[in-house]
Amino acid sequence: MIKPHGSDELNPLFVYDTEKRHALIAEAESLPSLLLNSAAAANAVMLGGGYFNPLTGYMNLADALSIAENMHTTSGLFFPVPILNMTEEAGVEAGSRIALRDPNVEGNPVLAIMDVEAVETVTDEQIDFMAEKIFRTLDGAHPGVATFKSLGKTVLSGPIQVLGFSYFQADFPDTFRTAVEIRNEIAEHGWEKVVAFQTRNPMHRAHEELCRMAMEDLGADGILIHMLLGKLKPGDIPAEVRDASIRKMVEVYFPANTVMITGYGFDMLYAGPREAVLHAVFRQNCGCTHLIVGRDHAGVGDYYGGFDAQTIFDEEVPADALELEIYKADHTAYSKKLNKVVMMRDAPDHAKEDFVLLSGTAVREMLGKGIAPPPEFSRPEVARILSDYYQSLDS
Ligand code: ADX
Repeated sequence: MIKPHGSDELNPLFVYDTEKRHALIAEAESLPSLLLNSAAAANAVMLGGGYFNPLTGYMNLADALSIAENMHTTSGLFFPVPILNMTEEAGVEAGSRIALRDPNVEGNPVLAIMDVEAVETVTDEQIDFMAEKIFRTLDGAHPGVATFKSLGKTVLSGPIQVLGFSYFQADFPDTFRTAVEIRNEIAEHGWEKVVAFQTRNPMHRAHEELCRMAMEDLGADGILIHMLLGKLKPGDIPAEVRDASIRKMVEVYFPANTVMITGYGFDMLYAGPREAVLHAVFRQNCGCTHLIVGRDHAGVGDYYGGFDAQTIFDEEVPADALELEIYKADHTAYSKKLNKVVMMRDAPDHAKEDFVLLSGTAVREMLGKGIAPPPEFSRPEVARILSDYYQSLDS
């Protein structure tokens, strides 16, 4: 099986030993507490599940700046995005042991225990430097930039022991998985070649066919549909609705035992190319051999070129940094001439009018009015679930 990133074995930071975990939960009650922001909490959940292997906790400022600059820590580990506990001034001292509390669960239970190695203050220039490198913009209207710049100016770094998976296990019992669980399931299936499909949207025909094309082109044994379950920007479709529509699509249109429907607990960064590389790192940790990267992967608005999330792998990711390979997909849509979904690069004689192309806004409007988008665009079973959701919103 493909090795995790940066180590031979996956080292999740969740404390799997039940007795030890309960002892730590009890200890946490007597420790000073820090209420995390959602970004830092999501990092803890990802670290807990082994997704961010081989990290052992939150990064210090030098590593964060170095990663922002060139995707390597000061000691040379390849990592695409700083994994920070960046917070408001919290009166925490270096050398202390603190309980990290979950902002996203009622009562703010302890999510992790942290041994604080350093407490550093970030300057405005350093925040801008990192934001510019990670998001390629400083525009405050970019949702990722806005969140990043709102977190605070104190960087707490050091190892953590993770004691839970926030709201993800309770809210998405069938879908939430750790990287450890995904690796184990892939091994149980006996799959050798596994393609990951990252998604934060419902899956329409183009997405469905992308998965099928990747499977066929690569001769893969299975596909991991891996949806983001954390926070999104306003207007994006909630995870439970996406989950239901994806489950329906797979049930009706994919052969049994070829698809794993799963999700991970992380807030969307909207960092386009950099987030695509992070996606690649954590799918390798899950045991996938390939990741589909298509048009405007992890993008938002017009901040990124349609295929910047592909070119970053050629231009900025060293050839030996990852074992997982990228399946680069061109813009995909239904061809009225060929009566099937194709990648545009495979239909060079087509004009724009030869494809069924609909904007997100147009589709949303149709669904809100209870009008099904054309079956060339959306499967009717999927459209029904989305339409029910939008109509419930509108009423
Ligand atoms: S993402 O933010 O998670 O990337 P989304 O769920 O919309 O958003 O996309 C999932 C994957 O499908 C990404 O790799 C994206 O590039 C790809 N994709 C979505 N729509 C298309 C399309 N019409 N053509 C090609 N690739 C697409």
